[in-house]
Amino acid sequence: MATHCYIKKLKLHNFRSHSNFELDSDDSSVVITGKNGIGKTNILEAISLLAKSNGMKKAKASEIQNRFSNEDWVVHYDFFNGTDFNSIGIAKSFDKKLIQIDGKTQSSYSSLYKISNVIWLIPQMDYVLLNSPSDRLKFLDRIVSLFEENYTCCYMKYRKAKHERSKLLRENILNKNWFSSLENIMAINAVSILHMRSSVLKILQDTIDNHSSKLFPKASLKFSSQLTLDDTAEYFQNRLKENREKDSLTGRVTLGVHNDNFRVFCQKRNVPINLCSTGEQKLLLLSIILSSVKARCIHYNKAPLLLLDDIMSHLDKHYRKALIEEVLSIQCQTWITDVNQDNFNSYLYSFKFFELLSK
Ligand SMILES: Nc1ncnc2c1ncn2[C@@H]1O[C@H](COP(=O)(O)OP(=O)(O)OP(=O)(O)O)[C@@H](O)[C@H]1O
Ligand SMILES: [Mg+2]
Repeated sequence: MATHCYIKKLKLHNFRSHSNFELDSDDSSVVITGKNGIGKTNILEAISLLAKSNGMKKAKASEIQNRFSNEDWVVHYDFFNGTDFNSIGIAKSFDKKLIQIDGKTQSSYSSLYKISNVIWLIPQMDYVLLNSPSDRLKFLDRIVSLFEENYTCCYMKYRKAKHERSKLLRENILNKNWFSSLENIMAINAVSILHMRSSVLKILQDTIDNHSSKLFPKASLKFSSQLTLDDTAEYFQNRLKENREKDSLTGRVTLGVHNDNFRVFCQKRNVPINLCSTGEQKLLLLSIILSSVKARCIHYNKAPLLLLDDIMSHLDKHYRKALIEEVLSIQCQTWITDVNQDNFNSYLYSFKFFELLSK
């Protein structure tokens, strides 16, 4: 059985619409109910900060601040990491986010990412697999970062070096050492990124094919890159050097892992996801998320937290039941929002329920 990570207690202070909110979840999965606009999604957003600095809504610290208070927002999590409890605090401090773990202020997010692991499905993601290649790649990257704790760090280094190299080209600064050093950072990290993407995709496809619920449609994940797994960092660095002139003319970096292509197909009909019905597209997306959680349980023996915002409104009765059964069988702490409890009436003992009421 996978090690169960969970939030035991969550406290929000001046976080969006919540002036003061406290919730004791123990190790259970949680269903948060309440009418539209009451603040359900805001709670999931607070949890998503454990996995991504700007959370699932990509919000700055100032946007999250409760508009009716001048006192900085704070979120506190009693978090079980599979072995011990951590007391985690994330707070706004001078328009930035400050992180404390067990009373110690952290200089970066990386120590937090080592402890916590969260994946989510929110309505804004409905079309992510139909969107631009870069959006699809971002979706894949979110999944890869679930499995590889160094992934985000590698990707940030790659992106920063790529950006700085483009700036040098744009401004026609012909400093060979500077170029070499940036291209070296890009090359080393590109090779790691490609290897991590490929290995996670393999694990994920294997989980979809052999371990995922038969009730959901299965996806085929297709991936292609301008680089191959045999390419060394040295090879890629040389190619970048050769391409300087071309890149300066086109104004873009023509070769690299930022151009990788990730596509999803419906396995049964062997058609790309954009040719499936709206319902099928949503089910494929959900099934990839559920398989990612399952893959992490199987291969890393550690379940991430799963956030499902407003998911039931997308599904018919049959799939609602299938989703609940699947979530309970994976045994990851899942946080689901819904307008009322009706969908969970047969599972009253399997979840903790919190109804948000207006004051
Ligand atoms: N910074 C902020 N300060 C105060 N209130 C905010 C802030 N940001 C968002 N809100 C308010 O929070 C409320 C929305 O909360 P949320 O999206 O969590 O609702 P919800 O319960 O998920 O609703 P729905 O069922 O429609 O999805 C809105 O009324 C919005 O105006
Ligand atoms: Mg909502």
